[in-house]
Amino acid sequence: MKNENAIIKTDFGNANGKSVDLYSIQFPNELEVQVTNYGGIVTSLKVPDKNGVMEDVVLGYDELQGYLNETPYFGALIGRYGNRIAKGQFELEGETYDLATNNNQNHLHGGIKGFDKVVWEVIEVVDEENRKGLSLKYVSADGEEGYPGELTTIVDYIFTPNSFEITYEATTSKTTVVNLTQHSYFNLSGNASEDILGHELTINASLFLPVDNTLIPTGELRPVRDTPFDFTNPKLIGEDVNATNEQIGFGGGFDHCWVMTEAPTAQIRKVATLSHQQSGRSMEVHTKEPAIQFYSGNFLDGTITGKNEKVYHQRYGLCLETQHLPDSPNQGQFPSTVLKKGETYSTATKYVFSTSN
Ligand code: GLA
Repeated sequence: MKNENAIIKTDFGNANGKSVDLYSIQFPNELEVQVTNYGGIVTSLKVPDKNGVMEDVVLGYDELQGYLNETPYFGALIGRYGNRIAKGQFELEGETYDLATNNNQNHLHGGIKGFDKVVWEVIEVVDEENRKGLSLKYVSADGEEGYPGELTTIVDYIFTPNSFEITYEATTSKTTVVNLTQHSYFNLSGNASEDILGHELTINASLFLPVDNTLIPTGELRPVRDTPFDFTNPKLIGEDVNATNEQIGFGGGFDHCWVMTEAPTAQIRKVATLSHQQSGRSMEVHTKEPAIQFYSGNFLDGTITGKNEKVYHQRYGLCLETQHLPDSPNQGQFPSTVLKKGETYSTATKYVFSTSN
């Protein structure tokens, strides 16, 4: 039988001396996605609004060049360590490791050339009627970006008519630390037509991590109750994003980690819901991870022109990055991010889309 909606692979240019491709996936009148194996970047994700109009709900660039120039991690896979490690240093089995300090004095999102800037090998293309996607592999050399151990990572991106499912697996040749995530910037209004302050957000977490002024967790797990960080009931992001609050000040808005459970869970469960009333679009986040970083796009400042000539002003996109807690390698009381030789790092997250009137 002819596969009417087969995945289409096209040339997307060259990066790091390798040619990279763009994979277009389409479920008629439902999800339409484009993904490149450069950085595992989701470059476009279209879902219908309440009138059936397909629009893009992620930020990004039209061309590969945008991603090769400066990008705030639009749509990318993040590794080896999503989020920050204080002063780019940690100790493991008696050794001190030095990582790049690419975010003031701290290490952010895997370093200078993290997993968002490497070419991933496409080891499998899944092209079933209601399950389509890629299996991406990257072998990071022992010592790459300062991390110990050769790390072999396989990330499966599977799309269904209404979801984006990510499965992560990694193994190492030496004890190391790992914390992988996905850094899509969402704007459910479609084609980034307005800021995200009118989106309603629920985060099923009663605790969050206060940070210092360099956005490193202080170590405290603080109840969200009676703070601007309480999203246990649906709340407009704009309601408290500029609240007079020390933590909001440090983040320039929301740029914090919410902690759902003390440890990862075996079962994937719903941890957050984002919705945009005008368009009727909603998105749920499900994960096995213990925590989620909600970043309200505070550093976007109108200097980036993205897809379709859209200027990305402050808070024109938001990230919901499932992960272990930031700076865990230096904070023994947090769930461990250590991976040993012979073990398999394994986790999963999915974003589920729906439309209502
Ligand atoms: C993360 C961080 C933010 C910011 C963005 C990229 O989500 O938490 O502080 O660095 O990445 O701009």
